[in-house]
Amino acid sequence: MAEPLLEVTDLAKHYPLTQGVLFKKQVSAVKAVDGVSFGLHTGETLGIVGESGCGKSTVAKMLVHLERPTAGSITYKGEDISRLSGRALKAVRRNIQMVFQDPYTSLNPRMTVGDIIGEPYEIHPEAAPKGDRRRRVQELLDVVGLNPEYVNRYPHQFSGGQRQRIGIARGLALRPEIIVADEPVSALDVSVQAQVVNLLEKLQDEFDLSYVFIAHDLSIVRHISDRVGVMYLGRIVEIGTDSEIYEHPTHPYTQALLSAVPVPDPRARAHRERIILSGDVPSPADPPSGCRFRTRCWKARERCAEEVPLLAVPEAFPSGPAAHPSACHFAAEKQVVPHVPPEEADRAGGPYEG
Ligand SMILES: Nc1ncnc2c1ncn2[C@@H]1O[C@H](COP(=O)(O)OP(=O)(O)O)[C@@H](O)[C@H]1O
Ligand SMILES: [Mg+2]
Repeated sequence: MAEPLLEVTDLAKHYPLTQGVLFKKQVSAVKAVDGVSFGLHTGETLGIVGESGCGKSTVAKMLVHLERPTAGSITYKGEDISRLSGRALKAVRRNIQMVFQDPYTSLNPRMTVGDIIGEPYEIHPEAAPKGDRRRRVQELLDVVGLNPEYVNRYPHQFSGGQRQRIGIARGLALRPEIIVADEPVSALDVSVQAQVVNLLEKLQDEFDLSYVFIAHDLSIVRHISDRVGVMYLGRIVEIGTDSEIYEHPTHPYTQALLSAVPVPDPRARAHRERIILSGDVPSPADPPSGCRFRTRCWKARERCAEEVPLLAVPEAFPSGPAAHPSACHFAAEKQVVPHVPPEEADRAGGPYEG
Protein backbone atom coordinates (compact mmCIF):
# COMPACT_ATOMS: atom_id res chain seq x y z
CA MET A 1 0.00 0.00 0.00
CA ALA A 2 1.14 3.56 -0.69
CA GLU A 3 2.59 5.64 2.12
CA PRO A 4 -0.14 7.09 4.34
CA LEU A 5 -1.09 10.75 3.98
CA LEU A 6 -0.82 11.11 7.73
CA GLU A 7 1.11 8.82 10.03
CA VAL A 8 1.06 8.98 13.79
CA THR A 9 3.78 7.14 15.68
CA ASP A 10 4.00 6.54 19.46
CA LEU A 11 2.08 9.73 20.12
CA ALA A 12 1.75 10.73 23.77
CA LYS A 13 0.30 13.60 25.78
CA HIS A 14 0.97 13.73 29.49
CA TYR A 15 -0.60 16.56 31.47
CA PRO A 16 1.49 17.35 34.54
CA LEU A 17 -0.26 17.17 37.91
CA THR A 18 1.24 19.73 40.24
CA GLN A 19 1.20 20.47 43.94
CA GLY A 20 1.62 23.85 45.60
CA VAL A 21 0.66 27.27 44.33
CA LEU A 22 3.76 29.42 44.63
CA PHE A 23 6.32 26.67 44.21
CA LYS A 24 4.59 24.36 41.78
CA LYS A 25 6.01 20.91 41.88
CA GLN A 26 5.07 18.18 39.44
CA VAL A 27 3.91 15.17 41.40
CA SER A 28 2.73 12.97 38.55
CA ALA A 29 1.00 13.17 35.18
CA VAL A 30 -2.31 12.36 33.56
CA LYS A 31 -1.34 10.09 30.68
CA ALA A 32 -4.22 11.21 28.46
CA VAL A 33 -2.61 9.64 25.39
CA ASP A 34 0.20 7.18 25.91
CA GLY A 35 1.67 5.64 22.78
CA VAL A 36 -0.80 5.84 19.88
CA SER A 37 0.14 4.86 16.31
CA PHE A 38 -1.96 4.76 13.15
CA GLY A 39 -1.91 5.77 9.50
CA LEU A 40 -4.51 7.63 7.45
CA HIS A 41 -4.60 7.10 3.69
CA THR A 42 -5.88 9.55 1.09
CA GLY A 43 -9.65 9.42 0.77
CA GLU A 44 -10.01 7.12 3.74
CA THR A 45 -12.08 7.44 6.89
CA LEU A 46 -10.46 6.15 10.04
CA GLY A 47 -12.89 5.79 12.92
CA ILE A 48 -11.56 6.12 16.45
CA VAL A 49 -13.76 4.73 19.16
CA GLY A 50 -13.58 4.45 22.92
CA GLU A 51 -15.29 5.38 26.16
CA SER A 52 -15.33 8.91 27.49
CA GLY A 53 -11.93 9.91 28.91
CA CYS A 54 -9.81 7.44 26.91
CA GLY A 55 -7.94 10.22 25.10
CA LYS A 56 -9.79 10.64 21.78
CA SER A 57 -10.11 14.43 21.92
CA THR A 58 -6.50 14.76 23.01
CA VAL A 59 -5.40 12.82 19.92
CA ALA A 60 -7.62 15.08 17.79
CA LYS A 61 -6.17 18.24 19.33
CA MET A 62 -2.62 17.08 18.66
CA LEU A 63 -3.47 16.32 15.02
CA VAL A 64 -4.66 19.91 14.48
CA HIS A 65 -1.95 21.49 16.66
CA LEU A 66 -4.18 22.65 19.48
CA GLU A 67 -1.96 20.60 21.78
CA ARG A 68 1.72 19.79 21.54
CA PRO A 69 2.64 16.12 21.93
CA THR A 70 4.78 15.09 24.90
CA ALA A 71 6.35 12.42 22.71
CA GLY A 72 5.98 10.77 19.32
CA SER A 73 5.58 12.11 15.81
CA ILE A 74 2.88 13.15 13.35
CA THR A 75 4.10 12.75 9.79
CA TYR A 76 2.18 14.47 7.01
CA LYS A 77 3.28 13.69 3.45
CA GLY A 78 6.58 12.37 4.78
CA GLU A 79 7.40 15.33 7.05
CA ASP A 80 7.19 15.36 10.86
CA ILE A 81 4.81 18.25 11.55
CA SER A 82 4.44 17.77 15.30
CA ARG A 83 7.10 20.30 16.27
CA LEU A 84 6.79 22.84 13.47
CA SER A 85 6.33 26.52 14.27
CA GLY A 86 5.87 29.83 12.48
CA ARG A 87 5.08 29.86 8.78
CA ALA A 88 5.80 26.21 8.16
CA LEU A 89 3.23 25.31 10.82
CA LYS A 90 0.67 27.74 9.45
CA ALA A 91 0.97 26.24 5.97
CA VAL A 92 0.38 22.74 7.31
CA ARG A 93 -2.50 23.74 9.58
CA ARG A 94 -4.54 24.87 6.60
CA ASN A 95 -4.63 21.31 5.36
CA ILE A 96 -5.77 19.65 8.57
CA GLN A 97 -8.97 21.09 10.02
CA MET A 98 -11.20 20.12 12.92
CA VAL A 99 -14.95 19.82 13.34
CA PHE A 100 -15.86 20.05 17.01
CA GLN A 101 -18.16 17.95 19.10
CA ASP A 102 -20.68 20.41 20.39
CA PRO A 103 -22.21 22.85 17.92
CA TYR A 104 -23.92 24.63 20.82
CA THR A 105 -20.70 25.77 22.48
CA SER A 106 -18.20 25.81 19.62
CA LEU A 107 -19.88 28.62 17.64
CA ASN A 108 -19.48 32.15 19.00
CA PRO A 109 -23.05 33.36 19.72
CA ARG A 110 -22.16 36.98 19.01
CA MET A 111 -20.84 36.35 15.52
CA THR A 112 -22.95 36.03 12.39
CA VAL A 113 -22.84 32.77 10.52
CA GLY A 114 -20.96 34.51 7.73
CA ASP A 115 -18.27 35.73 10.12
CA ILE A 116 -17.99 32.31 11.75
CA ILE A 117 -17.53 30.47 8.47
CA GLY A 118 -15.21 33.18 7.13
CA GLU A 119 -13.08 33.36 10.29
CA PRO A 120 -10.40 31.01 8.91
CA TYR A 121 -9.76 33.62 6.19
CA GLU A 122 -8.81 36.14 8.89
CA ILE A 123 -6.16 33.74 10.14
CA HIS A 124 -5.09 32.72 6.63
CA PRO A 125 -5.71 35.86 4.52
CA GLU A 126 -3.66 34.34 1.71
CA ALA A 127 -6.35 31.68 1.24
CA ALA A 128 -8.96 34.07 -0.20
CA PRO A 129 -8.79 37.66 -1.45
CA LYS A 130 -10.93 39.97 0.72
CA GLY A 131 -13.40 40.80 -2.01
CA ASP A 132 -14.02 37.13 -2.62
CA ARG A 133 -14.80 35.98 0.91
CA ARG A 134 -18.49 36.68 1.17
CA ARG A 135 -19.14 34.81 -2.04
CA ARG A 136 -17.09 31.87 -0.76
CA VAL A 137 -18.96 31.82 2.52
CA GLN A 138 -22.28 31.70 0.66
CA GLU A 139 -20.97 28.89 -1.51
CA LEU A 140 -19.93 27.01 1.63
CA LEU A 141 -23.42 27.44 3.10
CA ASP A 142 -24.85 25.99 -0.08
CA VAL A 143 -22.37 23.08 -0.05
CA VAL A 144 -23.45 22.04 3.46
CA GLY A 145 -27.12 22.30 2.59
CA LEU A 146 -28.00 25.67 4.16
CA ASN A 147 -29.61 28.64 2.47
CA PRO A 148 -26.86 31.11 1.41
CA GLU A 149 -29.20 33.94 2.43
CA TYR A 150 -28.73 32.93 6.09
CA VAL A 151 -25.30 34.52 6.08
CA ASN A 152 -26.29 37.37 8.43
CA ARG A 153 -28.11 35.24 10.97
CA TYR A 154 -26.79 34.19 14.38
CA PRO A 155 -26.15 30.66 15.68
CA HIS A 156 -29.17 30.69 18.04
CA GLN A 157 -31.46 30.96 15.01
CA PHE A 158 -30.45 27.45 13.91
CA SER A 159 -31.19 23.92 15.09
CA GLY A 160 -28.44 21.63 16.40
CA GLY A 161 -28.06 19.84 13.09
CA GLN A 162 -27.89 23.14 11.20
CA ARG A 163 -25.30 24.45 13.62
CA GLN A 164 -23.14 21.43 13.02
CA ARG A 165 -23.46 22.14 9.28
CA ILE A 166 -22.12 25.63 10.02
CA GLY A 167 -19.21 24.06 11.92
CA ILE A 168 -18.52 21.79 8.96
CA ALA A 169 -18.66 24.73 6.53
CA ARG A 170 -16.06 26.53 8.66
CA GLY A 171 -13.91 23.38 8.62
CA LEU A 172 -14.08 23.36 4.82
CA ALA A 173 -13.32 27.06 4.29
CA LEU A 174 -9.61 26.54 3.69
CA ARG A 175 -10.18 23.49 1.47
CA PRO A 176 -8.27 21.11 3.75
CA GLU A 177 -7.21 17.60 2.79
CA ILE A 178 -7.91 16.13 6.20
CA ILE A 179 -10.80 16.72 8.56
CA VAL A 180 -10.60 15.58 12.14
CA ALA A 181 -14.19 15.27 13.34
CA ASP A 182 -14.36 14.90 17.12
CA GLU A 183 -17.71 13.27 17.94
CA PRO A 184 -19.44 15.49 15.37
CA VAL A 185 -22.87 13.99 15.96
CA SER A 186 -22.77 13.01 19.65
CA ALA A 187 -24.55 16.17 20.79
CA LEU A 188 -27.32 15.85 18.17
CA ASP A 189 -30.70 14.15 18.26
CA VAL A 190 -30.57 10.62 16.91
CA SER A 191 -32.91 11.65 14.12
CA VAL A 192 -30.44 14.19 12.72
CA GLN A 193 -27.24 12.22 13.35
CA ALA A 194 -27.61 10.25 10.11
CA GLN A 195 -28.20 13.42 8.09
CA VAL A 196 -24.94 14.93 9.29
CA VAL A 197 -23.05 11.67 8.71
CA ASN A 198 -24.49 11.51 5.19
CA LEU A 199 -23.42 15.09 4.56
CA LEU A 200 -19.87 14.27 5.67
CA GLU A 201 -19.82 11.32 3.27
CA LYS A 202 -21.07 13.44 0.40
CA LEU A 203 -18.44 16.10 1.09
CA GLN A 204 -15.73 13.46 1.25
CA ASP A 205 -16.52 12.35 -2.31
CA GLU A 206 -16.92 15.88 -3.57
CA PHE A 207 -13.70 17.27 -2.12
CA ASP A 208 -11.43 14.19 -1.85
CA LEU A 209 -11.28 14.50 1.91
CA SER A 210 -9.67 12.10 4.36
CA TYR A 211 -11.35 11.82 7.74
CA VAL A 212 -10.42 10.94 11.26
CA PHE A 213 -13.88 10.37 12.67
CA ILE A 214 -14.10 10.09 16.45
CA ALA A 215 -17.03 8.56 18.34
CA HIS A 216 -17.75 6.84 21.62
CA ASP A 217 -20.25 4.54 19.98
CA LEU A 218 -19.20 1.75 17.62
CA SER A 219 -22.53 1.78 15.80
CA ILE A 220 -22.03 5.32 14.44
CA VAL A 221 -18.54 4.86 13.04
CA ARG A 222 -19.36 1.60 11.32
CA HIS A 223 -21.42 3.35 8.70
CA ILE A 224 -18.77 5.86 7.73
CA SER A 225 -15.41 4.19 8.47
CA ASP A 226 -13.12 2.18 6.20
CA ARG A 227 -11.01 1.24 9.20
CA VAL A 228 -11.60 1.54 12.92
CA GLY A 229 -9.21 1.90 15.86
CA VAL A 230 -10.47 1.11 19.35
CA MET A 231 -8.97 3.12 22.22
CA TYR A 232 -8.77 2.26 25.90
CA LEU A 233 -7.06 4.41 28.53
CA GLY A 234 -4.75 6.33 26.21
CA ARG A 235 -3.85 3.55 23.80
CA ILE A 236 -5.22 1.82 20.71
CA VAL A 237 -6.04 -1.76 21.63
CA GLU A 238 -7.23 -3.01 18.24
CA ILE A 239 -7.30 -1.64 14.71
CA GLY A 240 -8.56 -3.04 11.43
CA THR A 241 -10.99 -2.74 8.56
CA ASP A 242 -14.62 -2.40 9.51
CA SER A 243 -15.40 -6.07 8.88
CA GLU A 244 -12.30 -7.18 10.82
CA ILE A 245 -13.35 -5.13 13.83
CA TYR A 246 -17.10 -5.74 13.73
CA GLU A 247 -17.15 -9.36 12.64
CA HIS A 248 -13.82 -10.71 13.89
CA PRO A 249 -12.77 -8.69 16.93
CA THR A 250 -9.93 -10.33 18.87
CA HIS A 251 -9.47 -7.88 21.74
CA PRO A 252 -11.73 -8.48 24.75
CA TYR A 253 -12.45 -4.76 25.07
CA THR A 254 -13.69 -4.52 21.48
CA GLN A 255 -15.78 -7.62 22.08
CA ALA A 256 -17.33 -6.00 25.15
CA LEU A 257 -18.08 -2.75 23.30
CA LEU A 258 -19.67 -4.65 20.43
CA SER A 259 -21.81 -6.68 22.76
CA ALA A 260 -23.28 -3.41 24.05
CA VAL A 261 -24.23 -1.97 20.65
CA PRO A 262 -28.00 -1.58 20.79
CA VAL A 263 -29.87 -4.31 18.94
CA PRO A 264 -33.34 -3.09 18.00
CA ASP A 265 -34.86 -6.54 17.44
CA PRO A 266 -35.86 -8.04 20.84
CA ARG A 267 -35.49 -11.63 19.58
CA ALA A 268 -31.97 -11.00 18.31
CA ARG A 269 -31.25 -9.23 21.59
CA ALA A 270 -32.21 -12.28 23.61
CA HIS A 271 -29.76 -14.45 21.67
CA ARG A 272 -26.64 -12.44 21.71
CA GLU A 273 -23.86 -12.79 24.24
CA ARG A 274 -23.79 -9.69 26.36
CA ILE A 275 -20.51 -8.83 28.08
CA ILE A 276 -20.71 -6.59 31.11
CA LEU A 277 -17.38 -5.24 32.24
CA SER A 278 -16.70 -5.21 35.95
CA GLY A 279 -15.38 -2.10 37.66
CA ASP A 280 -14.62 1.36 36.34
CA VAL A 281 -12.03 2.68 33.93
CA PRO A 282 -8.86 3.23 36.00
CA SER A 283 -7.39 6.73 36.27
CA PRO A 284 -5.05 7.72 33.43
CA ALA A 285 -2.81 9.22 36.16
CA ASP A 286 -2.18 5.74 37.49
CA PRO A 287 -2.86 3.11 34.82
CA PRO A 288 -2.54 -0.59 35.69
CA SER A 289 0.80 -2.30 34.99
CA GLY A 290 1.12 -4.52 31.93
CA CYS A 291 -2.14 -4.53 30.01
CA ARG A 292 -4.26 -1.54 30.98
CA PHE A 293 -7.46 -3.41 30.36
CA ARG A 294 -6.59 -6.34 32.64
CA THR A 295 -8.44 -4.99 35.70
CA ARG A 296 -11.73 -5.37 33.79
CA CYS A 297 -10.91 -8.33 31.60
CA TRP A 298 -12.33 -11.81 32.07
CA LYS A 299 -9.33 -13.35 30.31
CA ALA A 300 -6.71 -11.67 32.51
CA ARG A 301 -3.99 -13.70 34.21
CA GLU A 302 -0.49 -13.18 35.58
CA ARG A 303 1.26 -12.38 32.33
CA CYS A 304 -1.18 -9.51 31.71
CA ALA A 305 0.05 -7.69 34.83
CA GLU A 306 3.69 -8.13 33.92
CA GLU A 307 3.99 -7.55 30.21
CA VAL A 308 2.55 -4.74 28.10
CA PRO A 309 0.86 -6.34 25.08
CA LEU A 310 2.01 -4.78 21.81
CA LEU A 311 -0.44 -3.73 19.13
CA ALA A 312 0.47 -6.43 16.60
CA VAL A 313 -1.09 -9.13 14.43
CA PRO A 314 -1.51 -12.19 16.69
CA GLU A 315 0.98 -14.94 15.75
CA ALA A 316 -1.81 -17.49 15.75
CA PHE A 317 -3.60 -15.63 12.94
CA PRO A 318 -1.10 -15.18 10.09
CA SER A 319 -3.92 -14.61 7.61
CA GLY A 320 -7.66 -14.16 7.39
CA PRO A 321 -9.93 -11.57 9.01
CA ALA A 322 -8.46 -12.09 12.50
CA ALA A 323 -4.99 -11.14 11.18
CA HIS A 324 -5.18 -7.50 12.21
CA PRO A 325 -3.35 -5.69 15.03
CA SER A 326 -4.67 -6.42 18.52
CA ALA A 327 -2.96 -5.62 21.80
CA CYS A 328 -3.88 -8.76 23.75
CA HIS A 329 -1.59 -11.60 24.91
CA PHE A 330 -4.47 -14.01 24.50
CA ALA A 331 -6.10 -12.64 21.34
CA ALA A 332 -6.00 -16.08 19.75
CA GLU A 333 -7.86 -17.73 22.59
CA LYS A 334 -11.49 -18.48 22.03
CA GLN A 335 -13.78 -15.86 23.48
CA VAL A 336 -15.24 -17.44 26.58
CA VAL A 337 -17.70 -14.95 27.89
CA PRO A 338 -19.26 -14.95 31.32
CA HIS A 339 -22.95 -15.55 30.66
CA VAL A 340 -25.30 -12.70 31.42
CA PRO A 341 -29.07 -13.27 31.29
CA PRO A 342 -30.69 -11.00 28.69
CA GLU A 343 -32.88 -9.15 31.24
CA GLU A 344 -29.81 -8.24 33.28
CA ALA A 345 -27.96 -7.21 30.14
CA ASP A 346 -30.79 -4.84 29.20
CA ARG A 347 -30.67 -3.27 32.63
CA ALA A 348 -26.91 -2.82 32.58
CA GLY A 349 -26.79 -0.38 29.65
CA GLY A 350 -23.53 -0.05 27.83
CA PRO A 351 -19.97 0.78 28.68
CA TYR A 352 -20.75 3.86 26.60
CA GLU A 353 -22.15 6.06 29.31
CA GLY A 354 -20.48 9.33 30.15
N1 LIG B 1 -5.91 19.97 29.79
C1 LIG B 1 -5.96 18.84 30.51
N2 LIG B 1 -5.32 18.77 31.71
C2 LIG B 1 -5.37 17.63 32.45
N3 LIG B 1 -6.01 16.51 32.08
C3 LIG B 1 -6.66 16.52 30.91
C4 LIG B 1 -6.68 17.68 30.06
N4 LIG B 1 -7.40 17.39 28.94
C5 LIG B 1 -7.82 16.12 29.10
N5 LIG B 1 -7.38 15.59 30.26
C6 LIG B 1 -7.61 14.23 30.78
O1 LIG B 1 -7.12 13.34 29.80
C7 LIG B 1 -7.96 12.21 29.67
C8 LIG B 1 -8.42 12.08 28.23
O2 LIG B 1 -9.28 13.14 27.90
P1 LIG B 1 -9.95 13.30 26.46
O3 LIG B 1 -8.88 13.27 25.43
O4 LIG B 1 -10.80 14.52 26.50
O5 LIG B 1 -10.83 11.98 26.35
P2 LIG B 1 -12.08 11.64 25.40
O6 LIG B 1 -12.14 12.65 24.30
O7 LIG B 1 -11.81 10.25 24.92
O8 LIG B 1 -13.30 11.68 26.27
C9 LIG B 1 -9.10 12.41 30.66
O9 LIG B 1 -8.78 11.72 31.84
C10 LIG B 1 -9.09 13.89 30.89
O10 LIG B 1 -9.59 14.20 32.17
MG1 LIG C 1 -13.72 13.87 23.69
